[in-house]
Amino acid sequence: IQAEKSGYKHFMLKEIFEQPRAIRDTTLGRISLETGKVFLGEMKITEEDFRRATRIHIAACGTSWHAAIVGKFMIERLARVPVEVDYASEYRYRDPIPDPNAIGLLITQSGETADTLAAQREMIAKGMKTLAICNVVGAMIAREAQGTLYTHAGPEIGVASTKAFTSQLVALFLFALHLAQTRGTLSDDESRTLVESLSLLPGKVEEILRSADSVCEQLAKIYSGARDFLFLGRGIHYPIALEGALKLKEISYIHAEGYPAGEMKHGPNALIDESLPVVVLATQDETNRDSHLRYEKTLSNIQEVTARSGKVIAVAIEGDTHITQLVDHVLYVPPASELLLPVLDIIPLQLLAYHIAVRRGCDVDQPRNLAKSVTVE
Ligand code: G6P
Repeated sequence: IQAEKSGYKHFMLKEIFEQPRAIRDTTLGRISLETGKVFLGEMKITEEDFRRATRIHIAACGTSWHAAIVGKFMIERLARVPVEVDYASEYRYRDPIPDPNAIGLLITQSGETADTLAAQREMIAKGMKTLAICNVVGAMIAREAQGTLYTHAGPEIGVASTKAFTSQLVALFLFALHLAQTRGTLSDDESRTLVESLSLLPGKVEEILRSADSVCEQLAKIYSGARDFLFLGRGIHYPIALEGALKLKEISYIHAEGYPAGEMKHGPNALIDESLPVVVLATQDETNRDSHLRYEKTLSNIQEVTARSGKVIAVAIEGDTHITQLVDHVLYVPPASELLLPVLDIIPLQLLAYHIAVRRGCDVDQPRNLAKSVTVE
């Protein structure tokens, strides 16, 4: 088994470090840098279906559900199609309104999660076509879907999902681009810029892995004794706050909550004191006005935390010297397009959760009470 870990102490760490490769493989053969076009023939759904789609219904569980929320931002921004995201375990119980022109999208690493399969069957029963984003070839959900966009993350052994998650984000970005190109909502120039930005991601993830690992190890020394953790983000970074909190709670057993930064004043502010570490996603795409506005608002949220003596760990863009004056620690990531920043944001949070769990002596690859794939409802 040691050999299978290729020298890494845990599968989770190995899988975190495999992300540049997993992202590259998920994009391979699906994009043209020259034309900016995205090819997803395997979706096996006609262009007409894509053009006619009134909305996209996504259902997923756990980490895949977080990917779904990021996907909602990508699809709505690029293709201007409304997206609804459900927990697969809830979908059937809200009596979803039948719409044969809606497309069902199931996101699942294993392709065997019982709740996700049940949501898919409900969608099919309501007359919808379903597509899957899945990591395991030939899995049940992929077999029942009209078409499957496979993530090429390779087998994921650690119960806490890492490389499957970032590959799902990449697959969703490809899906959103493809839908946008089919529906004519993107110019060729915009397509080319986005596809180029996508092709640069693996190198950027490598850069973060090189720089953030030792910083997170140091942070783990300081914060591994914390009782609670808060993760904050706005917009497309909010689901990353949820995912950062999930990583930490599932492997370290520290109570952690992810929250939209703007909602702090409606509750979580009451929790802040000097013993509460708060991780804030404060990356921005300077070329994007909305992204910059969100960043400015996030800075005020940081000040709300520090004014109450909370400890802030920020994730920010390299070269952001302003933020270093406001917070206790900074984890840097390289710049990228707003819609792709989530792929970079999550890397240091995975490493932070990992090092904290290791310091606490937890069974990182097999946390108590959890399973890699949940085949019961
Ligand atoms: C379990 C795993 C999670 C995963 C979730 C959904 O809870 O521990 O890591 O995110 O199932 O699994 P799926 O295979 O459907 O993505």
